[in-house]
Amino acid sequence: MSKLIIRGGKPLFGNVRVGGRKNSALAVIPATLMGDGPSILENIPDIADVNIYLNILRDMGVKVDRLDSNTLSINPDSMHTEVVPEDRAKKIRASYYLLGALLAKKGRVEVALPGGCDIGLRPIDQHIKGLKALGAKVEVEHGAIVASADKLIGTNIYLDVVSVGATANIILAAVFAEGTTVIENAAKEPHIVDLANYLNAMGARVVGAGTDVIKIKGVEELHGATHAIIPDEIEAATFMMAAAATRGDVTIENIIPKHLDPITAKLREAGVEIEENGDKLRVIGKRRPSAVNVKTIPYPGFPTDAQQPMTAFLSISQGTSIVSETVWEGRFKHVDELQRMGTKIKVEGRTAIIEGVGELTGAPVRATDLRAGAALLIAGLIAKGETELSGVEHIERGYENVAAKFKDLGGDITKETVVETEEVAK
Ligand code: EPZ
Repeated sequence: MSKLIIRGGKPLFGNVRVGGRKNSALAVIPATLMGDGPSILENIPDIADVNIYLNILRDMGVKVDRLDSNTLSINPDSMHTEVVPEDRAKKIRASYYLLGALLAKKGRVEVALPGGCDIGLRPIDQHIKGLKALGAKVEVEHGAIVASADKLIGTNIYLDVVSVGATANIILAAVFAEGTTVIENAAKEPHIVDLANYLNAMGARVVGAGTDVIKIKGVEELHGATHAIIPDEIEAATFMMAAAATRGDVTIENIIPKHLDPITAKLREAGVEIEENGDKLRVIGKRRPSAVNVKTIPYPGFPTDAQQPMTAFLSISQGTSIVSETVWEGRFKHVDELQRMGTKIKVEGRTAIIEGVGELTGAPVRATDLRAGAALLIAGLIAKGETELSGVEHIERGYENVAAKFKDLGGDITKETVVETEEVAK
């Protein structure tokens, strides 16, 4: 276990390079299994969730080599099973993508019901609806999903809710299906487009990704391909909010400005100065931010994954902000911890009412999930005094070298490994 010791109150200055998008990597990595022969994936973040995924593939006999810290070679030709190792699959949410990929490639797959951040119920009924619509038999047995199909037939699928996971999973399952599949009410997130671009580079025929109607024309086979995944807009958002909240001046590199539009618009509304320049954004926190209202909705709305860091940013704004979380009903667990640092936040159901305060004070706090950890890290950088942030393993699921990156921006942040001592019975 480890913790971050943060001494806040210092503005952040300098340049930081954003890594590849976690949620794109977690969809593209399973997609490599559908190709005959190796794929090369570039700009893949070296984070815990990715490494868990790579070990799942290795356990299944797939040849996985790390060519450098952010480049992978994955060759599925030696895969010897379609049963996904339960212990690892349960650790991450995105193991569900193996349903679509292996059902399409092998005609059968067995994977444990997924894990992931504790931010509310995380159903997969829309995934199962899509796989069944394509002709698969899907059962839940002993905590695992078993899906099989002699043949998958293209069809029309109308999603009941806009689901990133279900959209991506159905695209994977439909790639080899006979005929054409149409997904309506599809998710439009940039990482859906990224996945479609990679599959098409392998020989698939996916059109319409990025809109709410996606068509997949079945093909016979896919070959390996080289693909560089898109940057992580949530990592970028985290640095933008930290820079603005500490009254700093930070240039964020390796981004796609369009993907950050909802974040940039909302931070500008709060009075933050943001200059766009090609694949860079310069963020200047000239004054105390003004309170703004935020509502999380699917892309191109304000992303739910940026809600928790944004709550920390708004905690020191001038006025009262209303944050409504429409995607995950349990995504305010960071608020209890923020209150220990002097915030004034009231949570009522899916809404947080944030009364901005003049300053925060450092305190011992614990990250309960990935983006809660990001929120507490930002709060620690703002707060006067020392913050001891435990639960760093949650943050490292989605942020590569997070302490080093903030340190390079002038943040006083060090990582300490905590030796777990057994509680001595009194
Ligand atoms: C992905 O989760 C991301 N995770 C999440 O990021 C992100 O919050 C979410 O998309 C929304 O953008 C990965 O990509 C690994 P959904 P996913 O299916 O696919 C409901 C992070 O911090 N729903 O788009 O699980 C669901 O309850 C993580 O990086 C169903 O009802 O999200 C939610 O209300 C946290 N039935 C909404 O749809 C289903 O079958 C959106 O969920 C599936 C989803």
